[in-house]
Parts: sequence; C-alpha cells; structure tokens
Amino acid sequence: MSLSVALTKGRLEKKTVAMLERMGYGTENLKDKGRALVFEDTKKDIRYFLVKSNDVITYVNHGVADIGVVGKDTLMERGNQNYELLDLEFGKCKFCVASLPDQDVFQKVGHVKIGTKYPQVAREYFLSRGIDVEVIKIDGSVELAPILGLADGIVDIVETGTTLKENGLVILEEVCEISARVIVNKASFKLKRNEIMAVVRDLESVVKEDAHKNGFEG
Ligand code: PRP
Repeated sequence: MSLSVALTKGRLEKKTVAMLERMGYGTENLKDKGRALVFEDTKKDIRYFLVKSNDVITYVNHGVADIGVVGKDTLMERGNQNYELLDLEFGKCKFCVASLPDQDVFQKVGHVKIGTKYPQVAREYFLSRGIDVEVIKIDGSVELAPILGLADGIVDIVETGTTLKENGLVILEEVCEISARVIVNKASFKLKRNEIMAVVRDLESVVKEDAHKNGFEG
C-alpha cells in the first residue's frame, strides 16, 4: 500500500530530505523541485508533499497524509491527536521567555503582556507558573514587540540566540526543548502498520547512527 508523507517546508526541509536520502530513499524529485508541491519517491511507493507546519498537522489529522514531519513547537501549540512516534533530533531549539534586560516579566507587578506566535504555549506556561498574563498573538518578528512597547516580554523559539542578541533581548526562562517529530495518523497506523513502521525504523536507524557519532565526538 502506498504511503503519503507530509513534510514541513522551509526550516526543516533540507534536513528531512537529507535524512531520507541517507535512508536510501529516492529523493531526486524532492531535491529538484521547482514549483511543484507533490513528489513521488523514485525508489519507494511513497508520495511526499511539502506544506507549512500547521498544515502538516491538518493533513495528518484528516488522514490525507499517513505520516508527517513537523516541529514540536507546532504540535504543542495545536495539540496532537495523532501518534508521535519519533524524535528526529534535528531542528533543535528551545521555547524561551525573553524580554529587555530591565523588564523582567516575572517580577512585574500588575498587568503583564506577552507577545508570541504561540499563544497556547505562552498561556499554558504562565498558568503553570501561577502568573496571569495577557497574550498578544503576533505572526512574526516577535522580538519587536517589547522594543516597541506592544508587550512586556515574549515567548518564542530560540535557536542560536542571535535574533535576541541583535535586538538587545535576554532569555528570562527556558520553557522546553523542541525538535522535529514524526507523527502518524491513527487510522493509517492500523491499516498500513507494516509500511509505516518500515519508514519509522529507517528514520530511527539514521537518528541512532548520528547519536552514536555525536557520542564519540563528545
Ligand atoms: C524564529 C524565531 C526567532 C528566530 C530565532 O523566527 O521566532 O525570531 O527564528 O532564531 P535564532 O535564535 O537562531 O536567532 P523565524 O526565522 O521563523 O521568522 P519569523 O520571525 O518571521 O517567524
């Protein structure tokens, strides 16, 4: 039975395709893609499509994709009704609370405003800390919000820390670590278990190979 796999375009795309290539899958079409959005594997009975992270979850939710590769950040924000079978250990970054150095949102008395692309994650985190905040949804360049006074602080993903640094913001707290995950539609898993597990095992062997290598390199 053929498989449909939804991949996140952009940030995770290159590493996902590189991983498929190392698994010996036929990635030629994915690498030379032009404006196409659907790609047949040249060796396996698999069809890939490249979409935005939120849409990966939507396609897997509806069973249109059997498998999805998506960041844990999006899964946390959206909630996950599918199986999360594997941590691919790339696309690593952290959810952080950050602000201007003289603006510690955890010390502020009174109304606190948090700007973020991830309102659900931000709300849950501050709730877990027993702090009532107003969450303001922003679609990008979140670091601007405290600089321009739209928010007291932000909840955002930090990878290298460069964006924070270049905008004079500091990390106040780390919320949790994030990386790319493999999700599987529950009905697909019943119907195509062998095919899906074959892909998951191939992915896992590359993840383990890298972990082994990194272990040796310290
Ligand atoms: C993300 C995030 C930060 C930046 C962090 O934004 O929201 O702005 O990357 O990366 P760094 O720690 O390596 O500097 P993205 O690049 O996805 O763009 P956006 O702000 O337009 O969403």
